[in-house]
Amino acid sequence: MPAIKIKTTEEIESMRASCRLAALCLKMVESHLQPGVTTQQLNDLCHHFLLDHHARPSPLNYRGFPKSICTSVNQQVCHGIPGPRALRSGDIINIDVTAHLNGFHGDTNKTFHVGIPSPKGERIIQVAKKCLDVGIRAVRPKGFFGDIGAAIQAVASQYNCSVVREYCGHGIGRDFHEEPAVLHYGIPGTGAELKPGMIFTIEPMINLGKPDIRVLPDKWTVVTKDHSLSAQFEHTILVTPTGFEVLTDLDGEYLNGS
Ligand code: MF3
Ligand code: CO
Ligand code: CO
Repeated sequence: MPAIKIKTTEEIESMRASCRLAALCLKMVESHLQPGVTTQQLNDLCHHFLLDHHARPSPLNYRGFPKSICTSVNQQVCHGIPGPRALRSGDIINIDVTAHLNGFHGDTNKTFHVGIPSPKGERIIQVAKKCLDVGIRAVRPKGFFGDIGAAIQAVASQYNCSVVREYCGHGIGRDFHEEPAVLHYGIPGTGAELKPGMIFTIEPMINLGKPDIRVLPDKWTVVTKDHSLSAQFEHTILVTPTGFEVLTDLDGEYLNGS
């Protein structure tokens, strides 16, 4: 197993830039969300935004992925492929943006309501956001990756929701997906130790029903087996000497972590 990289000061500066751009792109596309917009239009907005900012969309052609972002609607868990589908009021949609800027990737996603929120949509979005937040707040030097997963799993089960186990967060830097796999379930004090300079994503996928998933015949789109709603939030996190820094946080929401 290759070791988990510790980023240098220069690499961290570059990661701040790619992560900030991914977050800006997500904020930009959020302002275009309304009933009637197609996921292809959202894709094109992000595609051109990234090119205009001297970056590339990391997903495009990644292992054959055909588009520039992932758009996952309602019971779609992740890796939804943008296309002619028009969004409707009451839908929820996850938009996952990864920017490749000056040799470094920045990765972030959020789940949004379209039009008037549905009660179930509201609930799964709230729980998924809370799961990401507790996962992030478990990050500290000399802690363990298992602390992150355990915190997420505890919140999901507290709200009678379930954690998808087939997909995880990941180290990130010069490569889109680096070591380690960041599990969204686990046992405190287990797994690799968290060290200053590590950079990875936390991106729990939370289902309103059972955790089981299947992949559609398009070979990408992941859906819940029981057709229940699924939501996800993702940030790219740096372990600092005193805590964490959320590199994809534009709003200063997590500023007390470092
Ligand atoms: N951005 C996703 C992640 O969070 C990965 C998408 S891979 C793709 O890791 F090929 F589907 F784009
Ligand atoms: Co990711
Ligand atoms: Co992502």
